[in-house]
Amino acid sequence: MEVIIRPTEAAAATLVARVIGRELQARPQLVLGLATGRTMEKVYDELAREHREAGLDFSLCRTFNLDEYIGLPVTDSHSYRHYMNAQLFQRVNIDRRNTHLPNGMATDFRAECAHYETEIRDCGGIDLQLLGIGRSGHIGFNEPLSALRSRTREKALTPMTAEQNASMFGGDASKVPRRAITMGVGTILEAHRIIVLVTGVEKADIVAKAVEGPITSMVTASGLQLHPHCTVVVDEAAAGKLKGTEYYRWIFDNEPEWQSFR
Ligand code: GLP
Repeated sequence: MEVIIRPTEAAAATLVARVIGRELQARPQLVLGLATGRTMEKVYDELAREHREAGLDFSLCRTFNLDEYIGLPVTDSHSYRHYMNAQLFQRVNIDRRNTHLPNGMATDFRAECAHYETEIRDCGGIDLQLLGIGRSGHIGFNEPLSALRSRTREKALTPMTAEQNASMFGGDASKVPRRAITMGVGTILEAHRIIVLVTGVEKADIVAKAVEGPITSMVTASGLQLHPHCTVVVDEAAAGKLKGTEYYRWIFDNEPEWQSFR
């Protein structure tokens, strides 16, 4: 794992978008794992801008989202399918048939989850997975105590997550569905490369636990420490509780991998 600190939220999101853009240019058929949430909106704005202004081509790209609420039809403006259409898919030249989210309205959830895993496998696995971290330490909707080897399945959301996501539901936590389908931690860890974006002072505690704390299913993001190629990009505000910042800054300023991003 490596940690990159950028001065602002905008600079952190731009760096993440540039990494995605580079991977897509190098491999037009990229299988991209996607995330939702407020943090990602700036990444999608930037990718849409790169498409518009620099012709970044999504025509062959395939995408798999981490999760979807159970019980919301795709027409519901709170569904993650709706979010993805609005934030990214409508703004770039992606073929909608190549975009995948779990079906939160499935009649047989067990079959739907197995099918999602099969679809990922049939595409050859996820090349690059984009992630955020929730306040409960979750990745996707893998709430505390999710097995670090878990696969795509139904998961009940914690009250903390309902609170966190309430802003998307007019501020009313009781409107947030309490169940979701999510890729498992084990599914996520099989991606070839992972890039995590965490911004804002309210995430400083949880990102320090995820990155520098012990690996524990109580903070499923800590499972990312097991991944061979995982980059965590934070802004100064989210970096506030990290202990190894001097080393992290040195990496970005000196390592050849980051030279063209400096
Ligand atoms: C949701 C998603 C997560 C995301 C989290 C963070 O819970 N399931 O994948 O990381 O939100 O959201 P935000 O960026 O709004 O803080």
